[in-house]
Amino acid sequence: MPNDFADDVRRGLTAARKFLLPQYFYDALGSALFNAICELPEYYVTRAETEILNAHAAEIAEAFQPPVRLVELGSGSGRKTRILIEALLERQPELEYAPLDIDPHILDLSARELTNTYERLRVTPLVGDFHDPANALSGSANRTIVLFLGSTIGNLDPDEAASLLTNVRGALRSGDALFLGADLRKPLDVLIPAYDDPLGVTAAFNKNVLVRINRELGANFDLAQFLHRATWDENLGRIEMHLVSRIAQRVHIATLGIDVDFAEGESIHTENSHKYDEASLRDLATRGGFNVTKSWMDSRGWFADLLLTVP
Ligand code: SAH
Ligand code: AVI
Repeated sequence: MPNDFADDVRRGLTAARKFLLPQYFYDALGSALFNAICELPEYYVTRAETEILNAHAAEIAEAFQPPVRLVELGSGSGRKTRILIEALLERQPELEYAPLDIDPHILDLSARELTNTYERLRVTPLVGDFHDPANALSGSANRTIVLFLGSTIGNLDPDEAASLLTNVRGALRSGDALFLGADLRKPLDVLIPAYDDPLGVTAAFNKNVLVRINRELGANFDLAQFLHRATWDENLGRIEMHLVSRIAQRVHIATLGIDVDFAEGESIHTENSHKYDEASLRDLATRGGFNVTKSWMDSRGWFADLLLTVP
């Protein structure tokens, strides 16, 4: 993992248009900052999906056709997952839950909390990259329901998202399913503050990737010389996050043995957050080899959870 980080940082910061992969936001501090984002009034995403899960927990659990085991990709705190865990524990005597996350800290924390809370839950945490989900999905007596919540799918480009679904589909058997959360297109006056909040938590989350490069790769990024920027691209249907250099500057990265030059106003593209609509979600499901069996939306029509089954 550390070598991947070094290689990916080198690749991203020496590219003509600088970028860093969003998975590197999530160290212990990054995950804590993401959890803080989820509490922000402007970040409607978590609340909208929580509303769906609370309102339809019984129907969703029935649609899973228990007994099942759960595998969750990018599980994070697992807070929303509790709603589904509780609904399933009402319908089966025991439940196997395999959360997969790239951040070992949040994984450990959530696994402990869940194990302490639910006596009949067996938690098998897995540190890893959800781009390669085969390990997490191998062997179980029960049917598998894969959870991919929170619109983390939106952080992938549509082609990447389709190939992730294809990978998941390839590791599933007939009767298994994917429960997918996706954020939907909505007015800009809602979208922009959700990614550029007045308290500056999202800015801190974004800049944390530089803190990480400083600490783990011996770099000397001056955080005060970078600005957080969130923009909407109408054609691509996505929010982009950038870190913009306030001035012309040179940053040294000791472990990589490189200097990185920034022009004033030059940016590092750190994240995309694609917003879907019904047609593009159906298209994504089809490209991944799934059928859309059921779908649920929150009361404002801002977020959708889809049950995708193996045909
Ligand atoms: N599912 C939770 C958390 C979403 S935040 C929710 O809905 O609120 C995204 C989560 O995915 C983080 O916990 C992050 O550590 C994890 N993650 C990001 N990229 C990943 C990757 N490539 N592989 C595995 N986990 C990843
Ligand atoms: C995890 N992911 C779905 C979040 C999102 O909304 O794209 C990450 C995030 N980035 C900025 N705020 C939250």
